[in-house]
Order: sequence, then C-alpha cells, then structure tokens
Amino acid sequence: MHGFNYREPQIPRSRFNEPGRFGRMFPWLRGLRTFDPGPDTLGAVGGPMDGGNPPPSDTSQNNPRIKAGYTFLGQFIDHDLTLDTTSILERQVDVDSTTNFRTPAFELDSIYGLGPAVQPYLYEQPNGGRLLIAADGNDLQRNGQGRAIIGDPRNDENILISQLQLLFIKFHNKVYDTEFANMPHGRARFEAAQTLVRWHYQWLVMNEFLPRIVGTAMASQEIASPSFSYETEHAYMPVEFSVAAYRFGHSQVRPGYGVNATAGAGLFPGDPDAAFGTGDLRGFRPVPATLVVDWALFFGGGAQASKKIDTLLSTVLLKLPTGVVPKDVANRHRSLATRNLQRGIDMNLPSGQTVAAHLGIPALSEAALWTTNGAVVGSGPAPLWFYCLREGEVGTGGARLDGVGAAIVARTFVALMLKDKASYLVQDPSFVPTLGQGGRFTMSDMVNYTLGTSLASEDIATLPDVI
Ligand code: HEM
Repeated sequence: MHGFNYREPQIPRSRFNEPGRFGRMFPWLRGLRTFDPGPDTLGAVGGPMDGGNPPPSDTSQNNPRIKAGYTFLGQFIDHDLTLDTTSILERQVDVDSTTNFRTPAFELDSIYGLGPAVQPYLYEQPNGGRLLIAADGNDLQRNGQGRAIIGDPRNDENILISQLQLLFIKFHNKVYDTEFANMPHGRARFEAAQTLVRWHYQWLVMNEFLPRIVGTAMASQEIASPSFSYETEHAYMPVEFSVAAYRFGHSQVRPGYGVNATAGAGLFPGDPDAAFGTGDLRGFRPVPATLVVDWALFFGGGAQASKKIDTLLSTVLLKLPTGVVPKDVANRHRSLATRNLQRGIDMNLPSGQTVAAHLGIPALSEAALWTTNGAVVGSGPAPLWFYCLREGEVGTGGARLDGVGAAIVARTFVALMLKDKASYLVQDPSFVPTLGQGGRFTMSDMVNYTLGTSLASEDIATLPDVI
C-alpha cells in the first residue's frame, strides 16, 4: 500500500503547503546502473530472501536490541516522512520530478492531517482541539465501510500500526487535556499541545529510535557533527533512504505476534484473498475486540523481540494480501522483496559497493555479501537495499544497521530535523522532555503517560550493540 496504491495526492497542492520532492543524497552517483540483480530470483517465494514463517517458539531470529513495537514505530515514522505514489510498473522514473506527498519532516501529519480548520472531521467539535477516535476508545474512528478516517490511510494497513496511530492520538488528547487545562479551548491551546507532542516525538526519534537502529555512536556523532545537509530551499526525500536503507524495516517483521494476554495472530493470512476473521492482523477494517493491542507485549520489559535485520523476510511479506496491494496485481508484485529490488532498479540507485567506496567504508567481501545459508545467491554489484541488510547481518549479527545503511539513515534523520525550522533541534536543542522520567522519553514512557501503565523504560546504553 505505501508507495503504490494512491494515484491522487493526499495533500492538496498549494503554495502554503507544498509537499516535498524526492531527490538524491549522492547525485553524482546517479545512473551508475551496471547490473540487474534479478528481483524475481532474489525476492521470490522460496528464493534466497525467503525466511519462512517460523513459529513463536523459534527464537533464533530474535533481536534483543529492538523490541517488536519498534518495527511498527519505524513504519509509522516512514509514513510521517514519505509517500511515493508512482506505480512500480512505470519503469522510467525521474527522481527529481517525482513528488513526495508527505512533507519530509517529523511533524506527525499522519496524526494531525492539515489541522482542525482544513480537516475538521478528524477533530472533536465544537472545540476542535482533541482528535476523534471510536466511541469505545479501542479503535480509530471509521466510516460506514470500516475505513479509518485519519491523516494517512496507510496507518490502517495492519492492526498493529492502526493501534499505534490510536496511541499517538490518545497521547495528543492527554497532553491537550492535562498539560494545558488552564487555557481556554481554541487554536492557541491546540497549537501548544501539538508543539509539545511533536517535540516529545522528535526527541524520541533522535534519542531513542535512531540510536536503536543505527547504534548510539553513529547517532550521537551525526547529531553532534552532521555530514549531510540540504543545500536546496526545501528538504527533499533522498531515494537512497526511501527506496533502500530505510526499507530495512521489512526484514524486522515477524510472521505473527502475541497481541494481548489472550490472543496472538499471524500478520497476514497464507491466502492473500482469505476472508477477514480474527486469525490475522490485516487492517482496513474495524479492529476485532479480541485483537486490541496490549503495548506491554511490544514495548514493556518482557516484550517480544523484533526479527533480526538480515537478508531474510518473513514469507507473509512475499505474498502480500489484497488490500496492501491491488487485487489484480501480478504475483511477482505481491513480493515485497521483489518490489523493493524493482524499485531500486527503476530509481537507478547506485550499488551498495559504490556507496561504500564513496563514503570510505570498507566494502563487504564478495563471499560475505553473496552467501546465504551456505549457498552463493549472487555476485558483483549489489542492490543498495540488499547490501544494507547484509551489512546489518554481517557487522552486528542482525542487531542494527551498520556501515552504509546506518550512515544513510542517520544522515537523513538529522538533516531533515535540522531543515525543519519548527523542530526542537532548531528551536531549542537543549529541550528536555517533561512527560517521561528523568529527562528521558522512551516508547514505554509514552505508553505510561498516555494509558497510565507502568512499563519498564529501557536505557539504550545498556542494550547489546552487536549480537
Ligand atoms: C507490516 C509491515 C510492512 C508492510 C506490509 C510494508 C509494505 C510496504 C509496501 C507494499 C511498500 C511499497 C513497495 C513499493 O511498491 O515500492 C512499502 C514501502 C516502504 N516501506 Fe514498508 N511495509 C511494512 C513495514 C515497514 C517498516 C517497518 C519500515 C521501516 C522501518 C518500512 C519502510 C518502507 C519505506 C521507506 C517504503 C517506501 C515508502 C515511500 O517512499 O512511499 N516499511 N512497504
């Protein structure tokens, strides 16, 4: 769904609200397409990137550094930053004229939409300061056909991301109700709450999420001394990030999850067109009462782990269900691996080795790069997305991104944050979160503040950097 289905812009074009463009981080590396990685071979069901659907009892793929909830926070952040509506079938893509229908900034437009004045149906009336949710408090607000009425329809793609969207909405409402209770309802109170929410989210992205996925050393070094900045008037979305490095999250997805104390479910069904039930976590429908998420299982002390970052994807992602992709899509385009590899070719991305050489990072050896479970699965220049996954696997045991992948993600995050004049890093770099504990604000702190729970809050510095 994200990156595919929507042919119409989500945000009206206007000189007051101009969505960004896609561009390149390494423009001088453009057009160095000297290879065809064979997306159908690498990304096919049963192919070298097919990791199977191991049962929960199989812990060999567990990543102790990143709990399962961060996978969906990663997807949520992706939707905050980027939306490419170009069809995968349009082979010749001009990156510089492809529009990103998301403003490339950490601003939660997926939650706020265009604000209470332009999208009042997202907000409680008559005051317009709180966001609407379902009457029972357990789901997003939905229309008569069960579709969520939210700032970004992709945040209803699966039940875990739709429940995370609900959590963020509740977070805003709690901040609005409690932190600004002495202000009259109206625009000033809404904006005060929105700024506090955004700054806490941005702090969490820079100080918790980013170090978790690229390592604390890389994150702090890039924040202290940025090595990439936008020389253009507006920020844009680098395709090396959106089409390759940041798609690392696809390898973190497990085939299924424990959802709450009594229920677990597969992410997607084996049959892409199976009827809806409670056995899987497909979205775009009201959340069944039995599948309401308990966040302790995703962010708490004993939460389930995400899958390792490596070149294997859960099979469910190689057979994407109808809804996530259109019904009439060719089978090969139901594979997320094939789609990512194809998109890399369409965008003329440089190979992983080319970017490594440019950044002065020692390239992976041919054997390390191209051997999966003892079998040689390719040779020569590697697709950038595949290369970033292999780096994580070889360099950190699958705990986090490494080398080229870590550099691209850290550079993009920091550059976007510094280009946003309203971000805490520009407005007040010494900002200290007030809604967590001890000056920190982790996802556990966010859940605790919003829902009144008492999940353990992890200190990043104590996590294994490699496994
Ligand atoms: C349930 C899990 C997920 C599913 C089913 C999913 C599915 C998809 C699909 C179908 C696309 C469009 C592919 C194309 O045609 O190019 C896509 C794009 C993308 N995904 Fe995911 N994804 C998931 C999780 C994630 C996570 C965890 C991350 C990152 C941490 C991520 C990052 C991205 C990015 C950066 C894009 C490109 C977006 C754009 O430019 O519009 N995804 N995903």
